Amino acid sequence: MLERIADRHGHRFDFDERLVGGAAIDATGQPLPADTVAACRDSHAVLLGAVGGPKWSDPGAAVRPEQGLLALRAVLGVFANLRPVRVIDELRAASPIRADLLDGVDLIVVRELTGGIYFGDKHRDADSATDVCTYQVHEIERILHVAARLARSRRGRLCSVDKANVLETSRLWRETTDRLIATEYPDITLETLLVDAAAMHLLSRPADFDVIVTENMFGDILTDEASMLAGSLGLLPSASLGDSKRGLYEPIHGSAPDIAGRGTANPTATIMSVAMLLRHSLSLDEEALAIESAVRTAITKGARTADIATDGETALSTDQFTEAVLAEL
Ligand code: IPM
Ligand code: MG
Repeated sequence: MLERIADRHGHRFDFDERLVGGAAIDATGQPLPADTVAACRDSHAVLLGAVGGPKWSDPGAAVRPEQGLLALRAVLGVFANLRPVRVIDELRAASPIRADLLDGVDLIVVRELTGGIYFGDKHRDADSATDVCTYQVHEIERILHVAARLARSRRGRLCSVDKANVLETSRLWRETTDRLIATEYPDITLETLLVDAAAMHLLSRPADFDVIVTENMFGDILTDEASMLAGSLGLLPSASLGDSKRGLYEPIHGSAPDIAGRGTANPTATIMSVAMLLRHSLSLDEEALAIESAVRTAITKGARTADIATDGETALSTDQFTEAVLAEL
């Protein structure tokens, strides 16, 4: 995809491939080797293949592939994870949600990515386990700024999701949100929802949402749910950004070990992540739009992978689907 973009638009991209996750554990014993970190730090952008798999999932394992991904997010300081959700009309049938509810769905989840329960102290002994959830005010403020600026550039609506009726971190999240939006973004319409209610509203009135901002774990859970609006987990891309233009780009899905090696995975989430990479890290907006429209056109013309094929539509392999998108480029 990037090579095609380079040819067509007169760019040159330098690629450097490094190991992370299970492949890195196999080769080095570490899920995130030092040379991978160095290469990522040295790059304008990082495109990540999903990590994880049964080979490395033993609960007693000392190292796990996911640790490599979390460490990479932390060392790159990419605290803001953008997960856009759009419905392509031709794919309505692929969604389990009633088609009339999908009209005008165009939302983006801004997930806090380097704090919360993912990164707190963990403790385990024979009959108890602990995961600590901590948020600092500055961590909440900086993700709110990203979300509020984004809302300003879109439909001006921000929905903050927390569990302030139970969790202390959520009470801090809500206080900080109410204060910051009232003082610095009075033009924005703020709605706050508890996460359990948000999970329901996301399905009962998905088109009402514009920008949703939430903490790390709630964002993880709600975006898998939101992918069902689009029709498949294999459709949603993401961009993870920090204070600089350097970003980490990855599909929101995992490595789908259940279909590994069959050549049937949907490459859309990764291809759309490449578009986000061009836009956010390389400021190549026209090129990003070219990829997004190629994907849409290929799908409009009938290209489907197995996860989004309905009513007897023929499913293409991962490679064939990619060729169909390349043909539109
Ligand atoms: C995601 C994934 C990861 C996460 C896993 C693989 C650690 O589910 O990016 O949503 O939980 O953040
Ligand atoms: Mg997830």
